Amino acid sequence: MNRHDLALIGFGGVNRALAELIRDRGDELATELGFALRVVAITDLRLGSLMQEDGIDLDAVFALAPGATFAGWPGGDAEPRNVEVIRNTTADIVVEATFTNPIDGEPGVSHVRLALEAGKSVTTTNKGPVALAGPQLNAIAAANGVHFAYEGSVVSGTPVLRFAASTLQGLRVDAVRGILNGTSNYVLGQMEAGMDLAAAVAEAQTLGYAEADPTADIEGSDVRLKVVILANEVLGADITPADVTCTGITGITPADIVDAAARGLRYKLIGAAERLADGSVRASVEPVALPLTHPLAGISGPTNAVSFETDLLGTVTVSGPGAGRVETAYALLSDIIEIDARVAQTAAARR
Ligand code: HSE
Repeated sequence: MNRHDLALIGFGGVNRALAELIRDRGDELATELGFALRVVAITDLRLGSLMQEDGIDLDAVFALAPGATFAGWPGGDAEPRNVEVIRNTTADIVVEATFTNPIDGEPGVSHVRLALEAGKSVTTTNKGPVALAGPQLNAIAAANGVHFAYEGSVVSGTPVLRFAASTLQGLRVDAVRGILNGTSNYVLGQMEAGMDLAAAVAEAQTLGYAEADPTADIEGSDVRLKVVILANEVLGADITPADVTCTGITGITPADIVDAAARGLRYKLIGAAERLADGSVRASVEPVALPLTHPLAGISGPTNAVSFETDLLGTVTVSGPGAGRVETAYALLSDIIEIDARVAQTAAARR
């Protein structure tokens, strides 16, 4: 049976959930998918401190991936080890899930580039590398005969990018609009129920929806990166974050929400990209008061949703979780399945 060997770069919640998924369902997946998965290397900048602070049991970590090499602890600067492992690992797929800065995309961009240049396919859940350097990284992948996949960079494991690329084939998609941040959607819902913004944000943090610093969630910059990815992937645009106008939800007051409700409207933070008559793409992030009948108006809590406006089907909407360690680990698995299919296609074409 075919097998893919994985190097897990970053061992936070998402890659740990992937390792657990492989441990718990590896045999079942192998039967279903026709290939086995084996973790051969794990690195993490914070693994030492994670173990102390989160009480992670080292033996349990080793047991998750028998035979794998581990790099990056105790504490200290593991970045050189990340680079060393990415360059030298025997893995054919690098799974990049580090804590990456969404402003400059690092260290994710460098990790992805290094891995692709070393002839390894890559999956990542980090949106920074895709939004900031996606076209360049895809070009490096193509030049090296490997693959770069990033379903989890938008709406975690809910299949949005691949849905557009495969299921919607043959349709013309003229616009994409979505609720792309669970925290802000949850906060708006709580404000509608009478809570103030600060209390609702604190609650979203407690529930694990928000980032440690929720500014990117509520000011719109998290959605901005996801809009760039959707515009480039689904509408074939070539835009950067600077091309997306961005207004978050911090200017929305309880009075605005009450006033909208009286008019049969509900505020949602909408990330949108649409193709204009001249072929260019306009992209934005802003709170929009939607009629309650709109498909995105009923999306509540931390759930995300993306509506595709198509020529033959009208509006098609996909909704599901936009965050969560297991949900995001599934995005990695779905990328690995895609990479396997693309490798098989290339091999068949060579025969
Ligand atoms: N914090 C984000 C959200 C999840 O609330 O949707 C990852 O982008």
